[in-house]
Amino acid sequence: LRPERFQAKLPIPPVARPVKVTADTDHYLVTQRVAQAELIPGIKTEIWGYDGVFPGPTFRARKGRWTVVTVRNELPVPTSTHLHGGVTPAESDGFPTDLILPAGYSPAPPGHHSATGRHHDTTRDYTYPITQRAATLWYHDHRMDFTGPQVWRGLAGLFLITDEIESALPLPRDDRDLPLMICDRSFAADGSLKYPQRDMTHPGADGMFHAGIFGDVILVNGAPWPRTEAAAVRYRLRLVNGSNARRYRLSLSAGTITQIGSDAGLLAAPLPREDVLLAPGERVDVIADFTGLPAGTEVTMANTLGEGPTADVMRFVITGPAPDDTRIPVTLTTLETLDRTRAVAERRFDFRFGGGRWTINDQPYDPAATMCSVREGTVELWRFTSDFHHPVHVHMGHFQVLSRGAGGPEPGDAGWKDTVDVRPYETVQVLVDFTGHRGRYMLHCHNLEHEDMAMMANFDIV
Ligand code: C2O
Ligand code: CU
Repeated sequence: LRPERFQAKLPIPPVARPVKVTADTDHYLVTQRVAQAELIPGIKTEIWGYDGVFPGPTFRARKGRWTVVTVRNELPVPTSTHLHGGVTPAESDGFPTDLILPAGYSPAPPGHHSATGRHHDTTRDYTYPITQRAATLWYHDHRMDFTGPQVWRGLAGLFLITDEIESALPLPRDDRDLPLMICDRSFAADGSLKYPQRDMTHPGADGMFHAGIFGDVILVNGAPWPRTEAAAVRYRLRLVNGSNARRYRLSLSAGTITQIGSDAGLLAAPLPREDVLLAPGERVDVIADFTGLPAGTEVTMANTLGEGPTADVMRFVITGPAPDDTRIPVTLTTLETLDRTRAVAERRFDFRFGGGRWTINDQPYDPAATMCSVREGTVELWRFTSDFHHPVHVHMGHFQVLSRGAGGPEPGDAGWKDTVDVRPYETVQVLVDFTGHRGRYMLHCHNLEHEDMAMMANFDIV
């Protein structure tokens, strides 16, 4: 099934409402459930959604306040929820074996033992102390071996953090601050989501899908190639690649793009871009400036890495001029540039296919094993090497890209990152700051099929 392009209206995911607000904490309750959603206009699609919607509700948090989310699992499968980019205590990080069991499905089925010995239940509280700078984060399922099919069915949503520095900037806000979660999916003729796996008991994807699973329909906030009206003013677009395996190079057919933020927060200074590259898991925060475009102009967001239908993403239809008191300040924030002399240790992680699996340093993932221990509060130099495109994601520690191949970081590597696109046969060096929490965390490939086929490793922060 392939819907018409630029017909569906751009949806904006609902904002999560706290069930309880105290002096320092916002409490939320979210239920994961099966739902019928109208992703394609006029057609019903069964999804697995946080609160039954896809994308899930958008959380808005403020640095300095705690967020506690109670997740209840009413799906037919175990789940684990990870806040991607979060500086999160280990017990709330959504470790792949820290499962929330499906309601009405206990005691735990054989094989579902937590590596950390934590006990399983049908609900779980995730506690986020939000000590980090303003950033566009996202949350998604992280169940061991089944992240790909579970995210594909809809288990993903946005989590936006703001702080004083960001809110003092004259940037576009409210309905001119658009979160855009981009992902590809395929639909069967009856409208159901099509994921080429045998069933929900066999992890990973079969041989021909070793590169990951790609869809032929591009969804933005869950709608296929949507359109939205926009005034001829500046908009903030928070671009999130929520795809399992697809990379995008995004550009606009009119207007300009200026990058203001990366995965883990604002850049020091705005960066004019022709286009932006987004590997799975990455985020780029940009100002799209439509100023001066005549009413009726159709501005298409294209994916120049795509072919045929996947070369289009969405469309803005310009309604005409409107008042705009925003500007892009010359300085966005102060950002310490890490120097390599800060690194107290150097480690290499080799992302490679071997022995029929995707491995890191030749080892397929073992939830009970750890690859290394790092000291909380230190900086380490991590070197990622690769045989293929692997978007490498580190939990807890944010990093800065030090080098890419023989050269320095590229424009898309700017700022604080938590995911970096490592290209085939390339070496990327990053300086990781492990300030935050202690405990067992992980790094992995964010191509979700690679992740499910064992391309993950644990590390301990001590
Ligand atoms: Cu977005 Cu460990 O993942
Ligand atoms: Cu990979």
